[in-house]
Amino acid sequence: MAAHELESVARSLVAEGKGILAADESSPTIEKRFRTINIPSTEENRRSYRELLFTTPGIPEFISGVILFDETLRQKARDGVPFPELLSRQGIVPGIKVDKGAKDLAGFPGEKITEGLDGLRSRFAEYRGLGARFAKWRAVIAIGEGIPTAYCLKANARALARYAALCQEAGLAPIVEPEVLMDGPHTLECCEEVTTEALRLVFSELLEHRVALEGMLLKPNMVVSGKGCPKQAGVGEVAETTIRCLRRVVPPAVPGIVFLSGGQTAEQATEHLSAMNALGGYPWELSFSYGRALQDPVLKAWKGEFANLPAAQSVFHHRAKCNGAARYGRYTREMEKSAA
Ligand code: 13P
Repeated sequence: MAAHELESVARSLVAEGKGILAADESSPTIEKRFRTINIPSTEENRRSYRELLFTTPGIPEFISGVILFDETLRQKARDGVPFPELLSRQGIVPGIKVDKGAKDLAGFPGEKITEGLDGLRSRFAEYRGLGARFAKWRAVIAIGEGIPTAYCLKANARALARYAALCQEAGLAPIVEPEVLMDGPHTLECCEEVTTEALRLVFSELLEHRVALEGMLLKPNMVVSGKGCPKQAGVGEVAETTIRCLRRVVPPAVPGIVFLSGGQTAEQATEHLSAMNALGGYPWELSFSYGRALQDPVLKAWKGEFANLPAAQSVFHHRAKCNGAARYGRYTREMEKSAA
């Protein structure tokens, strides 16, 4: 695909007022999510839950693209329409998670390396044939005693860049996701330091690998206090620190930054995004690519029961709408009350 086509996919994913739904939970992860509402992770439950999300009335106003898992890309709605087509018909771009998960990094206790590069070129060709127009690869960086090591950051940055180059070669726009985890007692300052170094290495590798920055999106964590840190930074501090970090290391050629929610509550994730967009004046679009922050409240409303479908869809619509407002810096706590 020509470079301008990759750029146009990347730009459409960060269109005004819209963001991405990450619905690409792998089989073990969706099982974990379903366990919270006591339903078994059967193929049919996974299918009907994703159908609930993708058929929610009104979501194309706020959702530009959906990241799918391999199984979901091949599934169909009840009426027989393949999911990628169901999404495309609504003007929502289908995407695919292509990494094979974060595994223990040999010789580096407590650190992970993401697998999935072998055979990726042919998988990309198949995914494109099935309708995917963008992809995602997630690297995981933990903060702890003596970690992350420079080697772990380098190895993950290199894998992300190799993935992104293969992705663009196949005509899909890559989402590059180096996630610095919130787990641990570390401070906001520590998260900023690690995130800055992780992103600096990622962009250095992307350039070495000749990845066109105009035809990709960055999916980073926000800079937040570790979950176990006694001093939790407030919304304003998170927004300012995250922006300072991103300004230092993300080239303006990148069309958009789509945050992951990473364990923040749904409302926190929306509030933080809104606060950053309210500050404004960035070279990139600032948007969302949330999994849990869009879906946790939906799962709770659904509980695996057909009768709860309209209620669950209205919860999803509400969260999508709140995040749509956050794209303009216009989300308020009042929006939550009006929904209740
Ligand atoms: P969360 O928003 O739940 O962190 O998920 C986003 C994602 O796609 C992680 O890879």
